[in-house]
Amino acid sequence: MSATTVFSDTPVIETEELSYTPEVAKRTAGIFKRVAPAISAEEWPDFAPYVDEIVRLKKERNAVILAHNYQTRDIYHCVSDIVGDSLALAQKAVDVEADVIVMAGVHFMAETTKLMNPTKTVLIPDPEAGCSLADSITGEDVRNLRKKYPGVPIVTYVNTSVEVKAESDICCTSGNAVKIVESLGVDRVLLIPDRFLAANVAAETNVEILTWAGECEVHERFTAQQVTQLRKEHPDVTVLAHPECPPEVVEAADYSGSTAGMINFVTDRKPKEVALITECSMGDNIASQNPDTTFIRSCNLCPHMQRINLMNICDSLKTMTHEVTINPEHEDRARLAVQRMLDAS
Ligand code: 13P
Ligand code: SF4
Repeated sequence: MSATTVFSDTPVIETEELSYTPEVAKRTAGIFKRVAPAISAEEWPDFAPYVDEIVRLKKERNAVILAHNYQTRDIYHCVSDIVGDSLALAQKAVDVEADVIVMAGVHFMAETTKLMNPTKTVLIPDPEAGCSLADSITGEDVRNLRKKYPGVPIVTYVNTSVEVKAESDICCTSGNAVKIVESLGVDRVLLIPDRFLAANVAAETNVEILTWAGECEVHERFTAQQVTQLRKEHPDVTVLAHPECPPEVVEAADYSGSTAGMINFVTDRKPKEVALITECSMGDNIASQNPDTTFIRSCNLCPHMQRINLMNICDSLKTMTHEVTINPEHEDRARLAVQRMLDAS
C-alpha cells in the first residue's frame, strides 16, 4: 500500500451470503438479458444476488462504480458504470457527479480518482489491491534521482503512489507515454518506474530515456519465445502486447498499446484470431462483443486486480469502506502532475 494513503481503519466485514430467490431473478432479469452474451445462465444465480444488492446500494448511496479493463466479467459487464484504461478512468473521474465513487481496480487508481475529484467519497473494496510497479519506488527515490540528474524532467507512470507523483513533473499512462515525453520539448527525460515501458517508449522516440528498475509482475513474465510458439501454432494470429511487456515481446507483436488501445484495435480491425499479451480477464470481457474474433488465451492474471469481487464491492457500499484519503502534504503537487498529463493528452 502507498505510504501516503490512509484508508479508514474499519474491521473486515463478514460477507453476508445472499441467495438467488425468485424476487432476485425477477428484479435482475433485465440486466441478465443485457449481459447474457458475456455471462451464462449457469453462472447467473451466483452473480445475480450481489448484482441486485449492488444496484440497490448504488441508488441508496448515490454511487457509481469505475472499473478497470482487467476486472472480471461480472464486475465489468454487470455493475460498472464506467470502464476503461488508466487514462480514461482518470479523465472520467473528474466529471463524476455522484456522491460516492467505488474504484473496482487497484489502489493507485483509487488515489488518482480521489486526487481528481477530491470532494467525493472514494472507496476501494480491498485496500490491499496494490501494484508491483507502485511498490517499486518511493518519494525519496525520486528526490534522489532529481539530485543525480538535475534539470532532467521526471515523467512518472500513473502506477505510482501519491508521494511519488508529488515528486514528479508530470504523469503518463501506457496510452500517452510517448506523447507526454515528447510534449516536454527536451532531449532527455526520466521515465519511471517501469523499465520496460521506458524501453518501449525509447524505441518510438528520439528523446533519450532514463529509467528505474521497476517491473509489472504480470507483464514481465511474457517472453518472445511464447509469441514465436503462438505464431507457429496459430499462423493467422494477430498479437497485441501491452507496453509493460519486455521490449522483445513488444517487437514480436503486431501492435502495442494500452488496454483501451488493444480493445479498440480488436473492435475496429476485427482480426480473425487475436492473442492479447496482457492480463487474462480483458480477453474474457471483450470476447462476447467481438463474436467474429477468436481469442487465443495466452495471458497471466494480476493478483491485485483479482482482489476485487462482487462481494467486497457490495460490502464496500454497505459499510462505506475503505475510504481513500490523500496525505495533504502531497496532494496539491500530485494533482498538478496528473492534471498536466490530462492537459497534454
Ligand atoms: P492501462 O492504463 O493500459 O489500462 O494499464 C494499466 C495497468 O495496470 C496495466 O497493467
Ligand atoms: Fe500493476 Fe501489473 Fe497489476 Fe497492472 S497488471 S495493476 S501494472 S501489477
